[in-house]
Order: sequence, then structure tokens, then C-alpha cells
Amino acid sequence: MPLSASQTQKSAASGPPPGPQHYLFGKTIEGLRDPLTFNMTYWKKYGDCLRFKAMPGVSWYFFAHPGAVEQILQTNQKNYQKPIRFLQPFGYVGGRGLLTNEGEAWRQHRRLIQPSFQRERLASLGDAMSAAICEQIEEWEKLPNGHVVDLFSEMSKLTFRVIGRTLFSDDLSGTAVPFLAALEHAVEHISARMNMPMLIPDWLPTPANIKFHDQRHVLDDVVYGIIERRKKLEQAPQDLLDMLMKSTFEGSSEGMSTRQLRDEIMTLLVSGHETVALSLTWTLFLLHRNPDAEAVLLDELQSVLGGSAASMENLHRLPYNKMVFNESLRLYPPIWGQPREAMEDDEIQGYRVEKGMPVTVCQYVTHRHPEFFPDPEKFDPERFLPENEAKLPKFAFFPFGGGGRACIGNHFAMAEGQMCIATILQRFKFELVDGQNVQPKAGCTLRPASPITVRIVKRSVKR
Ligand code: HEM
Repeated sequence: MPLSASQTQKSAASGPPPGPQHYLFGKTIEGLRDPLTFNMTYWKKYGDCLRFKAMPGVSWYFFAHPGAVEQILQTNQKNYQKPIRFLQPFGYVGGRGLLTNEGEAWRQHRRLIQPSFQRERLASLGDAMSAAICEQIEEWEKLPNGHVVDLFSEMSKLTFRVIGRTLFSDDLSGTAVPFLAALEHAVEHISARMNMPMLIPDWLPTPANIKFHDQRHVLDDVVYGIIERRKKLEQAPQDLLDMLMKSTFEGSSEGMSTRQLRDEIMTLLVSGHETVALSLTWTLFLLHRNPDAEAVLLDELQSVLGGSAASMENLHRLPYNKMVFNESLRLYPPIWGQPREAMEDDEIQGYRVEKGMPVTVCQYVTHRHPEFFPDPEKFDPERFLPENEAKLPKFAFFPFGGGGRACIGNHFAMAEGQMCIATILQRFKFELVDGQNVQPKAGCTLRPASPITVRIVKRSVKR
């Protein structure tokens, strides 16, 4: 059990936080290869505030206490910016979209896109979301009963379809397979680059770089295809794409260039489908492992929906469904950690943080803090009963980050996740094929270390 915040604070002078005393170059490589085990191990040993000394003059800081997370992501967010190690590899796919953009350009784009994701606007996306989910269900219905599939890949097809229909009013199901395959390679490439001790230039014709460039063309074709199809329409639907294409920047009559459009669409397409697909994958896996919770959820779905698809309007009548989804985001947060860099010296929880050093907050670890989540590895949706959730300090649970760079798709993802689970669980059981050792692997996102193979078994629909 890690030291509590009060314990770590008592021992603080205003020096650096505790941590291994020796230089950890070899260990650093180990940490980059398996950050979950690395972070958990040292956190349990040293407590909520940690400093790793990688080599002379290079340290990095790790903070697990919600108070520290709040300071880094929210109260002193100006001092903690996304590091180049993160921005550059992500930028190879997303260009200068919202996730990787900075400064005034980021602010302007965020202001432009934010209204489309506000809770009130989401209500209007409910029908398109539901239609996309039902289309994917029809695809699964056509499969022989008990057909074996890779769970994450099926969930990705579903969420890719949802993003296409809701944000771009476009049927992307035909391009899902090549897009997702190309993205798979791109994500591997980006994860490998993020974990390299030194960045190898993008333009060097290494085999990995050449393959990556080919895959990026496949991704680009899909995104430029969305823009071209839209330009040909005489009557454009009023969706996010329409808003992006017609809006102009503050104090100017200038709109987004095609390249800027491409970057924003790519960013939303990638960050919007992969994270939700992962949250669904982990939720279905956890329900399979916890049949009692699955039975409670099925009862709730049967009594409220009686076999019909969930809608945006009836989500509030499915409280257990939301608790299950939150508990899954706690145990397997699709974004498992957020890297930052200190712009100036600072003090966190009584410890000195030096300018220029990397600082990490990690959902995967904080969500397992026994002070806030007793018996942390246990899947227990009741932690998210309203009265229990109300007792959690801010940033004890932060799957969507926080502060100015918090996830723009937070409400969208919560609605989509709950609608998908409620609708598909009534129709199918996702049975894990025996003999699998399911483990998470931290790359850009928290994916399963190897494919989770499941049998899609049809349930008889009770109406
Ligand atoms: C369960 C699903 C999701 C999770 C767990 C998640 C998590 C996060 C987190 C933690 C961040 C902050 C990253 C950082 O500060 O370093 C983020 C940012 C972002 N997310 Fe999500 N996200 C999800 C779904 C979505 C969806 C559905 C969309 C869009 C359709 C989306 C679009 C974005 C964008 C554009 C950013 C960058 C925002 C900015 O910097 O202004 N995400 N997300």
C-alpha cells in the first residue's frame, strides 16, 4: 500500500519528492516498455509523489494524489504543458488538430468546436447514434451464432460507424476496415516513438517510417473523402462538419483551410472512436468476469427498455448501467496517463519540481488509490452510487482529464458508451473463449496486450 498524502507531506522539506536514489537509465527503458508495472511498483514503494533520476541532470516526476493532479491539470495548468515527446508523434497523424495544437490557434479551434459537444447539442445526435448502433447490431445478427471475433476490433467498427454518422453524417462503414488496419500500424509506430529514449526524425527512410507514411495515406484518403463528398452536396446536413466548413475565425472572414479541416476531422475521428471502443471492450470483458453484476444490469435493461434500443432520453433511467460504465473507466481508463512538462519551477504537495522536467499524472494508478477506492482491484459498480461518488475528491476519478485540455468529447463518450452497452447487451452475450490471459498494455491508449477473443452469442429477446 502506498504512503498516504499526509505521510508523504510530513516528510517533505521543500526538496524533491522521494524516489530511487540511483540513476535509472536501464530502469527508464524498462519503465517505457511496461509503464503500468513500473509506475505501480514505485508508487507502492515511495508513495504519491515521486522523482525518478534517469541520468545526471534528467529526472522525471510522478504524482498520484488527486490534489497534485488537480494542481497539474487545473489550478496551475499554464505551468504544465504537453511535451514535444507527445506532441510530435501524435502530430504525425492528427497534424495540428485539437489534441496537439497549442496557444492561440488551439484556443480558437477549441472555441469553434466546443459548442457541438455541449450537453444540450448532444440530444440532437441521439437518433443518429442509435441508428448507427442498430446498423452494427444487424451486421452481428448476420453472423452464425457463437461466431468468434476479436472484441476490440468489433467495438472499433461500431464506434467508427457512430462517429461517422453523428459528427459527419457520413456512412463510413465501407472504409472502416482499411482505416482501422492503417490506424493499427500508425498507433504502433507512434507508441514505439513515444517510448524511444531519442526521437528518430520522421523524414529518415527507415523501414518503420516508410510503412508509416503508406498507412498515413490510407488514413488521409478516408478523411479527404469525407470533405470531398460533403463539398458535392447541394443541401448539407447541419452537423459538426458543416459547422467546421462554414465557420470563420474570430475577427476575420477567413475559415479553415482544407489542411486544417483534415487535421480536425482526423483528430476527432481517431480520438473519438478508439477511446470509446476501448471503454466498451473493457466493460464487456469485466461484465463477463463478473456475472452477478451482469445479471443486475440485464434486469435493469429488461425492466426499463424491455428489449428495445437505448435512447439518449432514457439513459437517466438506467443508473446501474452508468455505474458499470464508470467502474470500467476507473479500472481500465482508455487514456491511462497524461504526460506534461514543467515550464517553471513549482511546488507540489510540499515538494519542489524543477523547470523543464517531465511530469506524469496517471489515471491507471490514481484510480487504484486505496484511500479513495478500497479493495481497488475489485470490480464494484456501487462505488459510483451517487452518495459514494459525491464523497470522492475531485481528480480521484478523472478518465477524461481536466482543466482547459480536458476531453472535448466527454459527454458524447459517456452517452455513446452507455447507449452501446445498454443496446448490445440485450441482444448478445460476449463470451470469452477459454484459456486467455487478458492483460492491459499501455501504449498511446490502454489496449488489451493481445486480442480478446469472444464468441458472439445471441440472446433470445424478451419483449
Ligand atoms: C471513453 C472515451 C474517452 C476518453 C477516456 C477520453 C479521454 C481523454 C483525455 C484524458 C483527454 C486529455 C488528454 C490530455 O490532456 O493529455 C482527451 C482529450 C481529447 N479528447 Fe477525449 N476521450 C474520450 C472520448 C472522446 C471522444 C468521443 C472525442 C470526440 C469525438 C474525443 C476527443 C478529444 C479531443 C479532441 C481531445 C483534445 C482536447 C484539447 O486538448 O482541447 N475524446 N480525451
